[in-house]
Amino acid sequence: KPEKREEFSGQLGFILSAIGSAVGLGNIWRFPGVAYENGGGAFLVPYLIALLTAGIPILLLDYAIGHRYRGSAPLAFRRVKRWLEGLGWFQVAICFVIAVYYAVIIAWALSFFVYSFDLRWGDDTAGFFTGTYLQLADVGGADPWFTLDFVPAVLIPLVLVWVATIVVLAAGVAKGLEKVNFVFMPLLLLAFGTLVVRALFLPGAADGLNALFTPDWGAMGDPNVWIAAYSQIFFSLSIAFGIMITYASYRKRRANLTSPGFVVAFANSGFEVFAGIGVFAALGFLAHEQGVAVAELEGLTGPILAFVTFPALVSQMPAGGLFGALFFGSLVMAGYTSLLSILQVVSASFQEKFGWTRAQASVRIGVVAAVLSVLAFSTTTGLVALDTVDQWANNIGIVASAVVTTVVVGWVLRRTEEMRFHLNSVSTIPVGRWWSFCIVVLGPVVLTSMLVSRIVSLVVDGYEGYAAWYLNVMGWGVVALFLVAAVVLTRMRWRVEPDRFDAWPT
Ligand code: PHE
Ligand code: NA
Repeated sequence: KPEKREEFSGQLGFILSAIGSAVGLGNIWRFPGVAYENGGGAFLVPYLIALLTAGIPILLLDYAIGHRYRGSAPLAFRRVKRWLEGLGWFQVAICFVIAVYYAVIIAWALSFFVYSFDLRWGDDTAGFFTGTYLQLADVGGADPWFTLDFVPAVLIPLVLVWVATIVVLAAGVAKGLEKVNFVFMPLLLLAFGTLVVRALFLPGAADGLNALFTPDWGAMGDPNVWIAAYSQIFFSLSIAFGIMITYASYRKRRANLTSPGFVVAFANSGFEVFAGIGVFAALGFLAHEQGVAVAELEGLTGPILAFVTFPALVSQMPAGGLFGALFFGSLVMAGYTSLLSILQVVSASFQEKFGWTRAQASVRIGVVAAVLSVLAFSTTTGLVALDTVDQWANNIGIVASAVVTTVVVGWVLRRTEEMRFHLNSVSTIPVGRWWSFCIVVLGPVVLTSMLVSRIVSLVVDGYEGYAAWYLNVMGWGVVALFLVAAVVLTRMRWRVEPDRFDAWPT
């Protein structure tokens, strides 16, 4: 007799958790800089088109697969077609690797949240972040690329993040995950909303907004701008990672799928644009204080934006400590809820295939991931490693996984209409044939060209001037690891009947 699957308590819990997964570091530190560099106001056009033609359609496809086949990625894909289980494990492997470094960034944010109160970073914020805090080794020339010199200032918050993650995952979907999102999502909106409003009243804010939104229409003719838009949407919505498949599998059978999908997608993009406003208003203030134009500022995206540029402007602001605490507190909340979602995928798939209990899965997976993240990323070479793994996992791993999903569903198995009927049989807003068109035609074409251009540029140009052997290990090697993990885990025996959990009658 099939065991009853865990369930979200209801629609709101699901929506908040899905938003919690989507809204992460990508919204706060990635979107504003990407938009600025790719045409400013004009970027919003390719961005919106990417949202409508790939983001929302693939999000709904993930929902359909997870809800209809009621499993985390490997089980759900196996039920779609037996040999497809490997695609699920490929996604699980990506999630695991991403979790290993994502946790490290949350740990940094936690440290900087504390440092906000006494502005511990001083005047030289770049020196503070890479030198005093991360104690980065110089990886140029003959210096080591990999060390085991641990940095205690990173290690301690990192252990805290892992403990908090293991505890919540062990508590379960409704009692752990969903509860955290019920608290953190409103709190995040409050904290970040306060920050944005404050930023808008700073001197120079208007210049920052002009810098961000002044459209450069010429950018729309540049294919790289379109690639940037599609990849931002992908990463930002957490699609093709197995996360949305897993979350949708915890919904009741008669659960509306499409309208929550639209809510999640627009909430995520809304938050992103909102973050752009807050971040660029604050950057306008920094430019104003330094007597330069916004265009002359450096470090407008990623870790440098968050941990070097932001501390610098916090220090120059009246009552800046509070502003800093709101910023880093927001990073922690946004990042932590995303981290939980990534690990839920890994945990659920091991429970399903190997019969581990929830507690066993969260402790075992959490401890292994924690140890790896300490070894690889809390050392003096951690930042370089993190940057490289991120580049390959996101730009190659995820895009490849999306290509395979759309091609297999749309072309090999021809199951797109089945998925569409499933969505429409439970949802209030039906999706029309435009949805199938996006999955079958647009998705594969756009994503494949994106993937090919990424591979070519990484092969030809390398990355950030890092040594070739290093990229072979930490970049291509990691992708190879995804494949090996997928094959090995697929071949292992199911310790429990794959049908132990209930499924839709097909
Ligand atoms: N969507 C998250 C963001 O925008 C990132 C993320 C990626 C979360 C992968 C979970 C899994 O930051
Ligand atoms: Na996001």
